[in-house]
Amino acid sequence: MPAAKPTTRTLTKQTEIIPPKGKLGVLLVGLGAVSTTFIAGVAAIKKGFAEPIGSLTQMGTIRLGKRTDNRVPLVKDFVPLAQLSDLVFGAWDIFPDSAYEAALNAGVLEKELLARLKGPLQKIRPMRAVFDQNYVKRLSGTNVKTGKNKFVLAHQLIEEIAEWKQRNKCSRVVMIWAASTEIFLKVHPVHKTLESFEKAMRENHKAIAPSMIYAYAALKSGIPFANGAPNLTVDIPALRTLADKNKLAICGKDFKTGQTLMKTIIAPGLKARMLGLHGCYSTNILGNRDGEVLDDPESFKTKEESKLSVLEYILQPEVYPSLYKDFSHVVRINYYPPRGDNKEGWDNIDIFGWLGYPMQIKIDFLCRDSILAAPIVLDLALFLDLAQRAGMKGVQEWLSFYFKSPQTAPGLYPEHDIFIQLMKLKNTLRHLRGEDLITHLGLEYYD
Ligand SMILES: NC(=O)c1ccc[n+]([C@@H]2O[C@H](COP(=O)([O-])OP(=O)(O)OC[C@H]3O[C@@H](n4cnc5c(N)ncnc54)[C@H](O)[C@@H]3O)[C@@H](O)[C@H]2O)c1
Repeated sequence: MPAAKPTTRTLTKQTEIIPPKGKLGVLLVGLGAVSTTFIAGVAAIKKGFAEPIGSLTQMGTIRLGKRTDNRVPLVKDFVPLAQLSDLVFGAWDIFPDSAYEAALNAGVLEKELLARLKGPLQKIRPMRAVFDQNYVKRLSGTNVKTGKNKFVLAHQLIEEIAEWKQRNKCSRVVMIWAASTEIFLKVHPVHKTLESFEKAMRENHKAIAPSMIYAYAALKSGIPFANGAPNLTVDIPALRTLADKNKLAICGKDFKTGQTLMKTIIAPGLKARMLGLHGCYSTNILGNRDGEVLDDPESFKTKEESKLSVLEYILQPEVYPSLYKDFSHVVRINYYPPRGDNKEGWDNIDIFGWLGYPMQIKIDFLCRDSILAAPIVLDLALFLDLAQRAGMKGVQEWLSFYFKSPQTAPGLYPEHDIFIQLMKLKNTLRHLRGEDLITHLGLEYYD
């Protein structure tokens, strides 16, 4: 018998994905500017007041097969995602304000829009937070849990989550950290194993930050977890092991919005054209509560680490020393109340081209931080839930697209280039559905 003719369409096996039946609970740690803009936005979209701009899950498409095949479904029609009408929101915050009051306070969305959404927003009242001012120096609040040690607090969260899930009739839950940036912490020996971590919780060890207590509670409750701030949180061996052991998806960290988003768009372009970089000076003025928290040097240090690494990884100075060796990269954030959430970020980029001739790029991004972050929260909630139903456990590197400091396997450098991140994300979706991965080789069109 003649051998079967190879086809260009070599579908991989489809992953079995449990359908998204029932309600999906989205538990947000922190009910501030980002969380309320996200919740109010979903409510506005559901009522038909606005469109989900900036959300890949809602507006994005995905090309399947060859360019001539004309198969370009919406992402949400291609993979089985939860519907917006099936989302239920819950939150913790150190302030008792409802989502409506918190949204007014954050000052991101117009009062008129919020008034039209008052009903659903007022119903969301934050649960008492696990909070310790040693980790966020600029904040103090009253809506806080008490317990004799961190292990006890974790178990209060676990009970609360179970009760919340039942009361809201959710079939699944995801948790997203959208609370203030904590002080800079490094991996400590107590973070090594689950046993040492739990022992440290019982001993109220200072290496256990509140964000880790929430993450632990989520993972113990069978809930996937995403970290939207630059805190260490799930980036420690004990919690990674717990995620693996309980077959739960985790990802982080630090939502990629504003200035860093711009850098990960521009830097791959400079590198693609082999243009050199002498330096990048970036400064921001920001007047929201996040800006106030980041005014504390210890919280800023956490943010700075997250923002600085991006250029280094994209430009690979060790591979291209004549273009990128020793470039200078400085990042500043200044708290300036009049601007509220409407941040202004300036970048002065000193580049050089042919024969070393210098050039400059100036970026002045008048951005709205939470407007850029809200669709990320939505996509992460939906994709984390998808990952969970598809049996994907541990670090979800394909969600790097959304983060300033993407989590990776230990020893693996993170991919920061937004275009590679997008390709990785879409190829993961193709892989889940048993479609050909797209390599952009395209030689078959010229056979
Ligand atoms: N807006 C963006 O574009 C963006 C981008 C990347 C990362 N982030 C990060 O997302 C987080 C939220 O940003 P935001 O602008 O909404 O800030 P925000 O200050 O408006 O809201 C954070 C909320 O978290 C609460 N909080 C602090 N510690 C808590 C705890 N332990 N438990 C429960 N609640 C707690 C605060 O009371 C506050 O209401 C920050 O860490 C920020 O750095 C934001």
